[in-house]
Amino acid sequence: MNHILSVNQFDKDRIEKLFNKTSIIERNFHKGSLFHYPNRVMISFFGEPSTRTRFSFERAMFWLGGKVISESNSDSSSSLKKGESFKDTFKTLSQYGDLIVCRHNDEKWINFAEYSSIPIINAGNGSQEHPTQSLLDLYTINKELGRLNNLKVMFIGDLKYSRTFNSLIKLLNLYENNEIYTAPAEIIWHCDSKSYLDQDNLTRINLKEIENYLPEMDVIYFTRIQKERFNSEDIEYFNNFQLLKRHLEILKENSIILHPLPRNNEISETVDEDSRAIYHEKQIKNGIYIRVALIQELLDEPKF
Ligand code: CP
Repeated sequence: MNHILSVNQFDKDRIEKLFNKTSIIERNFHKGSLFHYPNRVMISFFGEPSTRTRFSFERAMFWLGGKVISESNSDSSSSLKKGESFKDTFKTLSQYGDLIVCRHNDEKWINFAEYSSIPIINAGNGSQEHPTQSLLDLYTINKELGRLNNLKVMFIGDLKYSRTFNSLIKLLNLYENNEIYTAPAEIIWHCDSKSYLDQDNLTRINLKEIENYLPEMDVIYFTRIQKERFNSEDIEYFNNFQLLKRHLEILKENSIILHPLPRNNEISETVDEDSRAIYHEKQIKNGIYIRVALIQELLDEPKF
């Protein structure tokens, strides 16, 4: 079964094809729906809060003319609450639709996708991966800057628990000559992107140094501090960096500021009106287009 569980499943060739398809969808989106899938059903099965991912997937499926069964609180209102396993849950859900989009804080849920007889898309497994977010982030970078190599990208915020960071750093490392900067330096992520720590293209910077590096950056990518994943060692998180209006003066004119959202206070609202702050419109809209393309990719697979 052709699931989308990790960005490790994507190479440059697959990404190029996906982005070509996404551009076509983007150009045609406002011309009206394409009724490709009037009899196909997407099950959105979310056990963690979501605004963008769930609604953009559902918007994408509606645009394709399909139907949606939506569960926004699977931990308390599905039979997971009664102790049903992910294995049995996926076996059951696959009798009700053609595609499952799943998010849950148990990062191991993806190991049970194999028990589903319909494709599953990972919409977030704990702090590990959020592949569709990083694909839309990469699409946004390519569209705005016209390239995916020779980039200087700074990640600021919750590097330990951010699944969007964990997925995007892997994708950026598929391309040539990208320099990655992470702040704060003392926060070490615990996920599998840890293997990038020793790479020559990665520089860890302290909070006090951020302003020195900002003027060189092409992409500044913020993540929210994920208090829901904290443990007692994480007190250092409360001392973090906030992007303020005064920082805009030192940024490159053609840089972009990205954030997967939701935002807490890591970017001041006074930054929002700047043309480089594209997290509230362009980045979010790209999330719909890329998810239409991904749904099409999975539902177009021949059924045997
Ligand atoms: N970017 C993202 O995953 O946002 P939501 O948590 O609102 O879905």
